[in-house]
Amino acid sequence: MKIDVTRKLPEHVETLVFIHEEDASLEGLEFVDEELKAELESYIKAENFSFSYGKMSSFTRMLSKKRQVIILCGVGKNADLNSSRLRSIFANCWRKANSLKSHQVYVLMSFEPVINDVILGHVLAESALLSAYKFNKYISSDEVHEIESIHLLLSTKNTRHINRGILEGRIYAEATNLARDMVNEPANIMNPESLADHAKKAALQYGFSIEIHSMDKLKRLKMDALLAVGKGSKVDPRLIIMRYSGNPDKKNQLTALVGKGLTFDTGGYSLKPGPSMVNMKSDMGGAAAVIGTMAAIATLKLKVNVVAIIGAAENMVSGEAYRPGDIITSMAGKTIEVLNTDAEGRLTLIDAIHYALEKEKADRVLDIATLTGAAVAALGHDFSAVLSNNSSWLHQLKEASDFSGEMIWEMPLHEPYKELLKSEVADLKNIGGPLAGCITAALFIGEFVQDKPWIHIDIAGQATKDKINGIYSYGATGVGVRLLTSLLRSME
Ligand code: BES
Ligand code: MG
Ligand code: ZN
Repeated sequence: MKIDVTRKLPEHVETLVFIHEEDASLEGLEFVDEELKAELESYIKAENFSFSYGKMSSFTRMLSKKRQVIILCGVGKNADLNSSRLRSIFANCWRKANSLKSHQVYVLMSFEPVINDVILGHVLAESALLSAYKFNKYISSDEVHEIESIHLLLSTKNTRHINRGILEGRIYAEATNLARDMVNEPANIMNPESLADHAKKAALQYGFSIEIHSMDKLKRLKMDALLAVGKGSKVDPRLIIMRYSGNPDKKNQLTALVGKGLTFDTGGYSLKPGPSMVNMKSDMGGAAAVIGTMAAIATLKLKVNVVAIIGAAENMVSGEAYRPGDIITSMAGKTIEVLNTDAEGRLTLIDAIHYALEKEKADRVLDIATLTGAAVAALGHDFSAVLSNNSSWLHQLKEASDFSGEMIWEMPLHEPYKELLKSEVADLKNIGGPLAGCITAALFIGEFVQDKPWIHIDIAGQATKDKINGIYSYGATGVGVRLLTSLLRSME
C-alpha cells in the first residue's frame, strides 16, 4: 500500500476522506471548492451530521461524469485529539473506504492537528497497514478488496517529519503483522519446531542472529522445567535465542526479552474445559511479540543490545506428559511442585529467564506472556497487566504505552503473597490458589530474576480479538510489538 503526503489535489479524486472538527466552519477551507462546500453543507444539514469524535458517514456525488465518494469523519475537538484517538479515527476511515471499494484515497484534515508531525505520519501508516490486515491464507476463494494508496493532503507544512513518521509507522505495523501471522497460524501447523523455523526466517529477512537449541542441548543445560511442560507432545521443545547488537561498544547494557511460546495449551492433565481451550493456539503470543520486536528494532537499527529468548513447547496430554504432583528441578536449581499442569507458562519462562541471565549475561529482563486468565478477569481485553521490581524502567514502559497506544495497567508486586507459593515438599509450588492469580504468577517468576531490573507483561487479555474494529482484525492483535519497540527506542 502506498502512503504519502501530497500538496496537490488531482483533477479527479475517487475517494475523499474529509476529517473535520465538531462545530467548525466550512468557510475558506483549503482543497474545498465552492461546489464541494455546498454539497457538504447540504448533506450535513439533511442528515443532521455532527463531527463529534468517531462519527462517520459517506455520500457519493458525480463530478464531471465520474463518481466520487466522500467520507465524512469527526474528530470532536482538536484539543482533545491524541495519537490513540487519531489512530483509531484513521483506521475506521480506511475500513469505511475499503467497504466502499475505494482504490485511491485522499485525506483532507480541515484543521492543523495538535499532534507532532512524526507521530502524525506514524499513526497514518500504522493505522493503514494494521487495519488492512486479514489472515486469509486458508480461505480458498477470498476476494479481499485492498486500498491501493492513501494520500494525506497538506499544503503548507514541511513534509520531512511526516514522511519519517510514515516510514517508522510502516516498520511498526509490518512487524506487528508478522507477529499476527504467527499467532493466527493453527497449532497443527505451528508447533515448537515450526515456531523456531518462523523465527529463523524472520532473522534472515530482518537481519538479526539466531540460535536454536533442541532436546539434547536442553537436557545438558538442565532446563527441566521447560522440558517437563513439553513432555506430553510429539514435537520436542526448542529454545530459540535471537540476538541483536545495535550498540556493541556498550557491552554492559544487554536487555533480555523473554516470550512465552506455548504453541498450544491444552492444560495438560489439569485439562482445560473445551471452551477455554479453543483459542489456545494463541498461547505463543508473547513469543510472536518478541520475534516481531526483533524484526522492528533491527529494521530501525536501534542502538540497543537485545537478546530475545523463547522456550517453545506444546502442553499436551499423553503417557509421557508431566503430572500434577510431579516435582521438577528448574535450571536455576530451585525445585517446583507442580500442582496444576495448566500453570505451565511460568515454568517455561523461568528456565528461559535463567538462561538469559546466566548464559547470555543479560543486565535486565522483560518477559511477555499470555499467562493468566486472572489478568483477563481483572482488566478485560483492552489492557495488559504489568508488574515490575524497577519503577524507573516501568515508567519508561508507561511512556512507551502512551506512544504506541497499547494499553497497560500496573498490578502490585505484593511480596506477602509469596506465602501463597510455599510448598510442603519443594522450594515452590507452581500455583498460588484462587486469589490474585495474576500477581502470584508474577511473584513466581520474580523468584528467578536475581534482583535484576525486571518487567513482567501479562498479555492474556490482549493477544486476540473476536471483533473487527479499527486497527484490530479478527484473531491475533500482535500486541507487544509496538509497545516493546517503543520501549527499546526510549532506551537508546
Ligand atoms: N495460557 C493460559 C492463560 C490464558 C488464559 C491465556 C486465557 C489466554 C486466555 C495459562 O497457561 C493458564 O492456563 N493459566 C491458568 C493458571 C492457573 C492454573 C493458576 C489460568 O489462568 O487459569
Ligand atoms: Mg495453561
Ligand atoms: Zn498457557
